[in-house]
Amino acid sequence: MSQNVVLTGASAGIGRELARVLTIERGATVLATARRVDRLEALRGELPEGRFHYLAGDLADANFRSALWNRALELPGGVDVLINNAGIGWYSEFDRESPDRIRRMIEVDLVALVDLTQKAIVHMKERKHGKIIEISSILGFFGVPYSAVYTACKHAVNGLVKSLRRELRGSGVDVWCVCPGRTESEFHSAALGEPELREVRGRGAKARDVAVAIANSIDGRHGAFVYPDFRSRLVTQAALWAPGAFNLALDRAKHKVFADQIKNDNDTSRG
Ligand SMILES: NC(=O)c1ccc[n+]([C@@H]2O[C@H](COP(=O)([O-])OP(=O)(O)OC[C@H]3O[C@@H](n4cnc5c(N)ncnc54)[C@H](OP(=O)(O)O)[C@@H]3O)[C@@H](O)[C@H]2O)c1
Repeated sequence: MSQNVVLTGASAGIGRELARVLTIERGATVLATARRVDRLEALRGELPEGRFHYLAGDLADANFRSALWNRALELPGGVDVLINNAGIGWYSEFDRESPDRIRRMIEVDLVALVDLTQKAIVHMKERKHGKIIEISSILGFFGVPYSAVYTACKHAVNGLVKSLRRELRGSGVDVWCVCPGRTESEFHSAALGEPELREVRGRGAKARDVAVAIANSIDGRHGAFVYPDFRSRLVTQAALWAPGAFNLALDRAKHKVFADQIKNDNDTSRG
């Protein structure tokens, strides 16, 4: 693959592994973004020269998104692939979550993704060629407690893709979701309110394995939803085809899995 890829959320977790896989193993050129410039600079140092470029900034800022896209348009040959990977969560009881945090989550997980998708479609339709990958989640298919807004965003992403796939038929532009299950990354640490810690948490798939599955989907056959591994496919299919039994099992697991994780916005320990 010798393609130009715009990748969000490249400073950690799945996105960082994806930058490695795309540039080192697939020969792609990546324009990456995230807020932590030191992380992006360190990543640039380890990747093949000239294959990794970055523009650091906050995706919640519409002006930054415009600047990012303008930079993307300067890539020689244009943008072949957009991967909307950046995402944040926050474990909290919904009624105790601050409006600011809700707004921020929606801005990063949904508004930024919609905005960059729209910018990419304008560019790709003109060229009659392009691929857009939205990193959704198995939580785009069912609900869990204490992650209501995050889950709502992922459902919205899935709905966006279902509609766009119809709208873009024949345009040369392809769009699909990749739906990981629990993955080892900094996501859970951040969602627990440990911004200064940002350690890798979570027993789940390896971020590299998810990244390889995402990279494979770029040139492989796929439908609207790609599952990086058997477990994420199984959980999703169970939720869709046996919702009664699935929800019962989820309710039983609820307190074990979630109750010790929630981080309400009136907690004083929050960073
Ligand atoms: N980990 C899981 O269990 C899991 C499961 C299903 C789906 N997913 C999805 O996978 C994607 C990647 O998550 P991950 O697990 O790799 O999480 P992660 O390790 O926490 O990485 C998240 C990335 O998003 C970036 N980001 C967060 N807020 C941003 C903002 N306001 N502006 C710009 N960049 C921002 C972070 O960079 P900075 O902090 O440097 O800005 C970081 O590079 C997300 O969409 C997530 O919803 C994750």
